[in-house]
Amino acid sequence: MDLVSIVCRFLAKLVRPARIAALGFIAILAVFGTVQAQAQAQSAQTDLAGKIVQAMDALFAGPNAGARAAHAKGVLVEGNFTPTEAAALLSRADHFHAATVPVVVRFSNFAGVPTIPDGDPNASPRGMSIKFLLPDGGDTDIVAHAYNGFPAATPEDLLGFLQAVAAPDPAVIQQFLATHPAAKTFAETPKPAPVSYATETFYGVSSFRFTNSAGISHYGRYRLEPMAGPAYLDKAATAAKPPGYLADDMAERLRKQPVQFRLMVQLAASGDAINDGSIAWPATRRAVHVGTLTLRTLPANGEATQRSLLFTPLNLVAGIAPSADPLLVVRNRAYRISYARRYGASAEAKEIIRTGRTQ
Ligand code: HEM
Repeated sequence: MDLVSIVCRFLAKLVRPARIAALGFIAILAVFGTVQAQAQAQSAQTDLAGKIVQAMDALFAGPNAGARAAHAKGVLVEGNFTPTEAAALLSRADHFHAATVPVVVRFSNFAGVPTIPDGDPNASPRGMSIKFLLPDGGDTDIVAHAYNGFPAATPEDLLGFLQAVAAPDPAVIQQFLATHPAAKTFAETPKPAPVSYATETFYGVSSFRFTNSAGISHYGRYRLEPMAGPAYLDKAATAAKPPGYLADDMAERLRKQPVQFRLMVQLAASGDAINDGSIAWPATRRAVHVGTLTLRTLPANGEATQRSLLFTPLNLVAGIAPSADPLLVVRNRAYRISYARRYGASAEAKEIIRTGRTQ
């Protein structure tokens, strides 16, 4: 006889008040069990995020004081975002309905090495993080990189990949790549240095659910297309560039004219892998142009401001919800661990960590 049948028989024998009390007790136990299971899952995710940050440290000789565990070298730019009419049809998110909202954008090299030369192969894929400053005083983020996919579908696989890359014996990474196709594709895909951050295409990788005012939802992925067009350097041109050419180029461009990107949302079709960021969807999928980013200035205290800013993919607003992509939750925790480490002692960081304002 199973446990449910035993409990049912036991309840049937009780008088009514005792039965109600017993049912109440069982309900409390069930809620307690669920809460406990959730707490255990959260603690396992935090533990995994911590291990990934440690693996990044092992790879990049970190922790590097005041720097991010990944994407440590960056440049901050300010401007605004103007949504299209199509944005309002896709989602009820505030910034898709406003006339225009201010944005803070951080472009970055991949490695967790704050002094990495921009032409170094470990500077790819580049990052682009966007913070939309909303009319109600809140904010929401997009975190994207210049590769349409990811080397791992799960955080566990990402940990394995980072540890294999750091292993002194090259056979370890060879063995990992032989058994992990997404990591192999990532390792083998050329990722040339861009002429400029303004000539790179960036991908949001994880899917989100966009819901409009009528309650209609679509899954989609962000893509940022440079309006200057994509342009890359060959090996010789990359080698000839100074170590900080990307920040210099941005300053130079902005002196002449704004730098612009089209924000696109690529929509999933039936059968597309919604919860697996390691798999790019076919290029033929419809993409909605939801707005234009126009970047105009470099803030005066960019280095200090960069340190104080936390961009995370789960800092969302009503109308844009996460998919069940397992990377998202662990990313969120890893970014917070790295943020607390580089900036946690400040009053502002304590407030962000306490209130969860920037999730
Ligand atoms: C489980 C998967 C991932 C983990 C654990 C992870 C971990 C991290 C960590 C620890 C940081 C430093 C954050 C900070 O100090 O503020 C970071 C930054 C960054 N990551 Fe990831 N990452 C993951 C997946 C991704 C994916 C899929 C993308 C691309 C869509 C991405 C793009 C970036 C970018 C652009 C930054 C720089 C953020 C900024 O400018 O502040 N990461 N990542």
